[in-house]
Formats: sequence, structure tokens, C-alpha cells
Amino acid sequence: MSGFFRVGGSAYDDFMGRYSVRLAPLFADFAGVHGGRVLDVGAGTGALTGELVRRGADVAAVEPSPEFCAALRERFPSLEVAEAPAEQLPFPDGSFDVALAPLGRVESAELEVTADYDDFEEFWHALERQVGPAGAWLASLSDEQRARAREEMHRQLGSPSGTFSLTGRCYAARVSTDARSAPVPTSVTSTSSSRSTNST
Ligand SMILES: C[S@@+](CC[C@H](N)C(=O)[O-])C[C@H]1O[C@@H](n2cnc3c(N)ncnc32)[C@H](O)[C@@H]1O
Repeated sequence: MSGFFRVGGSAYDDFMGRYSVRLAPLFADFAGVHGGRVLDVGAGTGALTGELVRRGADVAAVEPSPEFCAALRERFPSLEVAEAPAEQLPFPDGSFDVALAPLGRVESAELEVTADYDDFEEFWHALERQVGPAGAWLASLSDEQRARAREEMHRQLGSPSGTFSLTGRCYAARVSTDARSAPVPTSVTSTSSSRSTNST
């Protein structure tokens, strides 16, 4: 499984979690989740899971990474957490009202979230923690290539000397089995907090 993340929960939170937490309410709105029995596939360390729980949903989380499953169990002790990939869901058909991961009409949207960094060092440190494909790419570089990549990223970010913000874009799709559909939510720029839906 190429997208399977094998890093600790804190590295994930440092690198991607700062976007996931902001994205979660947009995605839950987009999916139209306001309760019910919900399956969160690829739950990571639980940014979306937490938002679903806050909305009163009865959530089961599925995640193939053992490290992330440990983080999920620690954060949500009463939740059902299954260590499994989407291709092998350990639930019978028809167990859920909503499955967040793709039956009917497909709509897509771009959801944007903005995260803040104290300085370029914070951004680079999060990248160096080797989360996901970006982290694997960085780890594959020689020292010289890494130094050049650092310089180039600093330049492409506008050569920030202090605090700066970055906007991330998530491509989401939802599939409805009926004619109802929630309006597509707008982007968020501050810290916060369907039917079948898929993100990232
Ligand atoms: C970008 S993260 C999204 C995490 C989470 N939804 C959140 O709110 O932060 C993608 C997650 O999908 C998981 N993943 C990768 N391959 C998967 C698969 N085949 N089935 C289910 N999850 C998978 C990764 O381990 C990772 O935790």
C-alpha cells in the first residue's frame, strides 16, 4: 500500500495535522454529516474522527498504520478502531449510514485550509519528520540535494523571515444515493476546529 503512513502520530500532526484539523469541519459539512453511524476510512490520527464525534456521530475508524491506530485508541478510548486498509473493511455491507472514503451521483469540490508557521524552520522541521510521500521524497535526497531543496522551497515560499501562512487544497468527492445534497462549504483561514465521500 503506497499511501500507508509509517511515522509516529506527533510527526503526522506536525506535518499534516495542522491542515487536517482545519479541513475536518469543511469536509464534514461537505459530506453532510450531522450524526448517524459513520465509517471514517484512513482516519490517520483522528482529525476528522474528532470532528465527527463532536457532531454526535457514532464513529468507527479504520486505518492501516499501526502507529496511527495507537494514537486513535489513545485519543478516542471508547471508539471502535480497526487496523485495516480500505480494501479489506472488517464490517458487513450496510453497517453504516455514511462512509467517508467513495453508487450514485458524484460531485467534487476543492476545499481550502490555511495553516500558520512561526518561521521557515518550523515548516522545514515538519517536512524533515518524513511524513507521507513528501517526507519520503526528502529522505531520498543526498545532503547536497536536500540543501538545494531547502533553499528552493524557501525561495518559492517568498523567502519568509518570520511568520507566514500556507494554504492547502483538498480535492473531495461525494456520492449520493438520493437527490439531496448539502451546499459546498467555503474555505477556512483560522484555527478551529453525504453520503460516501473521499478526501486527500
Ligand atoms: C492524508 S491522511 C488523512 C488522515 C485523516 N483522515 C485526518 O483527518 O487527518 C491519509 C490516511 O490514509 C491512510 N491510508 C493509506 N492507504 C490506505 C488504504 N489503502 N486504506 C485506508 N487508509 C489508507 C494513511 O495511513 C493515512 O493515515
